[in-house]
Amino acid sequence: MNYPVKVQLVEKSRREGLDFGSLPFGKTFSDHMFVADYKDGEWQNCQILPYGDISFAPSLMALHYGQSVFEGMKANISTKTGEPVLFRAKKHAKRFRISSERLGMPEIPEELFLEAVKTLVYLDKQWIPETAGSALYIRPFIFATDESLGVRASTSYKFIVFTGPVGAYYPKPVRILVAQKYVRAFPGGVGSAKAAGNYAATLKPAEMAKKSGFDQILWLDGLEFKYIQECGTMNIFAVIGDTVITPPTTDAILDGVTRDSILHLLKEMGIKVEVRALGIQELTDAHKAGELKEMFGSGTAAVVSHVADLCYKDVVYSMPDISERKIGPMIKKTLTDIKENTIEENNGWVTPAISSILEEAN
Ligand SMILES: Cc1ncc(COP(=O)(O)O)c(C=O)c1O
Repeated sequence: MNYPVKVQLVEKSRREGLDFGSLPFGKTFSDHMFVADYKDGEWQNCQILPYGDISFAPSLMALHYGQSVFEGMKANISTKTGEPVLFRAKKHAKRFRISSERLGMPEIPEELFLEAVKTLVYLDKQWIPETAGSALYIRPFIFATDESLGVRASTSYKFIVFTGPVGAYYPKPVRILVAQKYVRAFPGGVGSAKAAGNYAATLKPAEMAKKSGFDQILWLDGLEFKYIQECGTMNIFAVIGDTVITPPTTDAILDGVTRDSILHLLKEMGIKVEVRALGIQELTDAHKAGELKEMFGSGTAAVVSHVADLCYKDVVYSMPDISERKIGPMIKKTLTDIKENTIEENNGWVTPAISSILEEAN
């Protein structure tokens, strides 16, 4: 690796005695983290440290003007080799670069991103849960660290990666509410970046939806309120008749790694797929005609999350029981099997977490 890394390991792991039986999402963190600084035009001061607090001045720019992007990816233990494997790490590294660039931040070289991720996963492999559907969640993020109130791009940044074991994100099929007033992203905005502020904008409407008994919001385009975009932190698919339809990724929709993987797999399986604008009216008409067979969301955290009910303009459109669905359950199983390395895939998506940082440190 082209970047020297100082490694400071924990004296005693916190892993012992932890119950992996019921893991709430994103509440348990593994022993180590990776930290690097961007200063004077280059990435430097790369370190592996025990996971822990970092202190900052109140004038930290990320806190005021929101220059902050993140990634979310997963590692599993291969059921074949017993070693940790990553799913589509390169695609996440690329999206991280694209998100950072959109927010006016320096790009992380893919080598640095991948080495940081692989090293942490390898170091903390005893934190990877092995029960079906669970995984080690990996959270790389970058944020502005200049101490200044001037509105401009920061000149210094921090890149951090940490990990934690997770169980299923949405254990049950979800009830979704179609947005009527609020909008997640507009053309020309930052909707296709994994920018922290995109999530902040959705929290209040999501809380309101929860109070009304829904798990997530199905976002519509902000211009005409006609076309579906995404659902919570997932891309969205509908099965109408025998065709799977999902909207194209624009600058208002995140280019989901799971979405891309599902499109590949569906094509490989010979299932009819259409990537095109999908109107909410078309969905409700298809439901009335008995043609809306399934809807599901896709994302790293959720993998595939079946939609139970869709509520639009106070009318609830209920989907068939999971036992009557074919495509969503099948694609969920295939993806999980690929991630756990239980079945072969020929796309180079599953790669071992081998760390050259640790090899060089030895
Ligand atoms: C807004 C949004 N859309 C879609 C996704 C799904 O993307 P991926 O499959 O890469 O996790 C996510 C989750 O990362 C998300 O936050």
